[in-house]
Amino acid sequence: MKIADVIQSADWKTEKHAPVIEAPEKVKAGENFTVDLCVGKEIAHPNTTEHNIRWIKLYFKPDNGKFVYEIGTFEFNVHGESVDGANQGPVYTAPVAKAVVKLSSSGTLLATSYCNIHGLWESSRIIAVES
Ligand code: FE2
Repeated sequence: MKIADVIQSADWKTEKHAPVIEAPEKVKAGENFTVDLCVGKEIAHPNTTEHNIRWIKLYFKPDNGKFVYEIGTFEFNVHGESVDGANQGPVYTAPVAKAVVKLSSSGTLLATSYCNIHGLWESSRIIAVES
């Protein structure tokens, strides 16, 4: 078995677990741009002590290279936990993140996300770099 065998993918518009990657289709080489990440943009994912999104990771795979680069890991560490019990706490983090990135070549942004009870999910987005 490989990790790829247990990562699920789906259209984020119909599957609440698939990470959403929002970024320009084209960017200029060496110029910062923003990548917005979230889970549950179209269909909200639960955010409770028992059921929540723990993290999203963002990677970049250049077209002209063999290896993938990890851009960032975004953890969501509180979901209503409290000494008073589950969902009694004063704070919840939503699975939303932003990365500011610059690229020197075209490639693919990849994201993985993890739900504590529904496992690993992935999505990708092609991005073109103009010089
Ligand atoms: Fe879930």
